Amino acid sequence: MMSFLLPENPAREDILAGQPALWLNPSLREGGINDPALPVRASQVKEAEQNWQRLAPLLSYCFPELESVGGAIQSRLYEAVELRKSLGYTGPEFGQIFVKNDGDLPVAGSIKARGGVYEVFMYALNLAEEKGIYKQGDDILTLAGDEARAVFSRHTIAVGSTGNLGMSVGIAARALGFRAVVHMSSDAKQWKVERLTRQGVEVVQHQADYTTAVEQARLGAEADPSVYFVDDERSEILFFGYSAAASELAAQLGQSGVIVDKDHPLFVYLPCGIGGAPGGVAYGLKAIFGDAVHAFFVEPVQSPCALVHMMSGSDELISVYDVGLTNKTEADGMAVARMSAFVATVMKPLLSGIFTVADEDLFRWLWHAQMSQNIRLEPSATAGFAGPDFIVNSSQGQSYAARNDLSGKMTEATHVIWTTGGAFVPQEQFWTFMKRGSELA
Ligand SMILES: Cc1ncc(COP(=O)(O)O)c(C=O)c1O
Repeated sequence: MMSFLLPENPAREDILAGQPALWLNPSLREGGINDPALPVRASQVKEAEQNWQRLAPLLSYCFPELESVGGAIQSRLYEAVELRKSLGYTGPEFGQIFVKNDGDLPVAGSIKARGGVYEVFMYALNLAEEKGIYKQGDDILTLAGDEARAVFSRHTIAVGSTGNLGMSVGIAARALGFRAVVHMSSDAKQWKVERLTRQGVEVVQHQADYTTAVEQARLGAEADPSVYFVDDERSEILFFGYSAAASELAAQLGQSGVIVDKDHPLFVYLPCGIGGAPGGVAYGLKAIFGDAVHAFFVEPVQSPCALVHMMSGSDELISVYDVGLTNKTEADGMAVARMSAFVATVMKPLLSGIFTVADEDLFRWLWHAQMSQNIRLEPSATAGFAGPDFIVNSSQGQSYAARNDLSGKMTEATHVIWTTGGAFVPQEQFWTFMKRGSELA
């Protein structure tokens, strides 16, 4: 039932009707990354990068698949040569198009590896310091030793998840010997539950949405001091874990000869659930490229929680239910009715806008990505493919370009479509996605 009236806006009617739309953020500010009112600092991105480097030998030890890459959890950047043809992005007005494929990220098979693994390993480090097992300068592999494992086994790491964050936190926690409990929302796919259970993670399945699953998990953790709760609605650690992806992308763009400056804008399209992953990456990119990067979130038409809240202008969080939407989507990773208040505050002066996509399109794009460039995705992961079309062809996109002095520069633009999950989808499940996609394509 509708209980909140969204303000007047060219995108409002489509949003309320559950139709794809692009909303432009009126609070975007030049130099927003240096806004002293923000609760975080750009220097925290660098700190996260340094922490990842410090953890690398331990990651390599715990996950043999990381040995050959020096313990780095990184993904490939693909130029969308064939894919852009199959999506109809052929003209020069679309500039250069790349896919940053976190669907292939090692350890957890989704963008959530960047946040979840980071927070679990940082917690282990802090706990080992607190218990006197490890101090700065010691060999980080001490954390994989018997003494550390014995301590970790007496502690539980808990998290609420629509699936992929649980996978990332659960796998990381078990690798270090923690007990792990994942509270899943009703949207979670059965194969994710089964995979986690096989890894020794306890899965609590709630017959409720994500916000409720997180609340229940938080309450349980508060009642037990041996439980550390990874709080997707509030965690700065998760946020900065994700933010380190920005320097990885910057290096890859540099290697591909891409220039990013005010005459060569960089557009980035990031699938959004609660906002932590896309927010962290966008923040990291702003810290590197400043106003030359234009970050857009993308959400399902029935679950645009970041869009409705940020558009509302309200201090209180507004959920998709408050404006009469259902939060029903096949895109499990983005089936979130209420965004993180922390991310909303940080993104206010930094985010360019948010667009929404229909579920059918997610399956269609999944099929195109596989058929044209052999990129294997899950439905949530494909949402960013709508980005170049919205920016180049829609009246809102054109108005964004005009407002930001970009109208004559679009042929020099680079678009990065961040795909966010898929490598772990079981073959049988993947072929049901492909079948649905081929019927729509
Ligand atoms: C595949 C995928 N993409 C995007 C997201 C969005 O991340 P966040 O909820 O941090 O906004 C998720 C979240 O689980 C996901 O699983």
